Amino acid sequence: MNKISSINAQRLNRRLEELARIGARSDGGVCRLAFSDADLKGRNYVASALGDLGLEVRIDAVGNLFGILKGQSVRKAIMCGSHTDTVATGGRYDGALGVLAALECIERMVEEGFSPAQSIVLASFVNEEGVRFMPDMMGSLYHSGSLTLEDVLGATDKDGVSIGSELNRLSYSGQDTLNDLDITAFVELHIEQGPVLEDAHIPIGVVSGVQGLSWQEVTVSGKSNHAGTTPMDRRLDAGVVANQLIHEIHALPLAMDGLRLTIGSVTYHPSLINVIPNKVTFTIDLRHPNPTQLEQAERLVQGILQAPQPCTVTSKPLARVDPCSFAPNVVEAAQKAAKSAGYPFTTMISGAGHDAQILQSCYPSGMIFIPSKGGVSHDVSEYSSPDDIAAGANVLLGALLELSEGSHL
Ligand code: GLV
Ligand code: MN
Ligand code: MN
Repeated sequence: MNKISSINAQRLNRRLEELARIGARSDGGVCRLAFSDADLKGRNYVASALGDLGLEVRIDAVGNLFGILKGQSVRKAIMCGSHTDTVATGGRYDGALGVLAALECIERMVEEGFSPAQSIVLASFVNEEGVRFMPDMMGSLYHSGSLTLEDVLGATDKDGVSIGSELNRLSYSGQDTLNDLDITAFVELHIEQGPVLEDAHIPIGVVSGVQGLSWQEVTVSGKSNHAGTTPMDRRLDAGVVANQLIHEIHALPLAMDGLRLTIGSVTYHPSLINVIPNKVTFTIDLRHPNPTQLEQAERLVQGILQAPQPCTVTSKPLARVDPCSFAPNVVEAAQKAAKSAGYPFTTMISGAGHDAQILQSCYPSGMIFIPSKGGVSHDVSEYSSPDDIAAGANVLLGALLELSEGSHL
């Protein structure tokens, strides 16, 4: 495929297994929630591999990790990577693949004594998942200047613990920046997390863009009282109202093509069998590839929430990312790399959110997908085959060479 022969698939798959042992769940999945002890151990695993390769390792003020392989032009650089945090019920590949495949590509260059025309920067961004601390893609939002240091350090989890205090506890953050580098492109390899590639029996997806995302939390406030004594017509039951709202909101995708809608978390207070709930909070995750349609979906949700109710209903935004289109030169580099390595590919958009869609605002960016078994992700059963992993990493290597050298060697 080029002067650097393909990646070492065995080593990459071994590293995926090793990283999966950090934060391993007893059901075969992985839990490395952002800024937890397991997350730190996972990040240290990557940092120590970068150090072993003789790369310069940098950590910024929020914990984003970078490893730099200096090229012939030290200043100009191509960035590649992803994240190693997971959802609480996560699998072994979401994020981990992009970071460890980037490491593998760099290791192959080091082994061959190859000095790329541009430096290659591995990036592992913090808190991509956004399940413990919101918003998601937080590390890349900070890196791209869309969140300030204060925004990040002040974010709290449901127990009121802040990222600032977790970073202190873990002694993890540094002061490094990449201000001395001129990043000319970012490429992220990731599992598809959906069924498109597997259904079509195609090993590679070249990603042309990512659908938009809108997250909010709704609070319904009522009044607690005794379950046995309070007549049904004298209740202010937050549970009843919340369930009616959820039912109406769940019907929206039937009326809007392409809308993905998830109510993934519902919390009752005080959540006791014989007490009428005085408060219910629930989350809404809306996704659509078309910005106008996404806004329309948000308006429809607001219309439902603002209709007169016996209980008070309020909502607060948690995260919002517009749909993005990736840079044509990065998309073409990935297509060219797949073609010259002989892998069938299709060009597609991403249903899941990714750091690459944030970085597209500051660097020309793009992504490469490989199939997810059964289209399953954000679940402990997430699986991608070693062959597909090797194919994806080879395409990443080809794309990095294409972008750095201007053409395949
Ligand atoms: C990120 O994992 C997302 O929720 O799309
Ligand atoms: Mn991911
Ligand atoms: Mn994820």
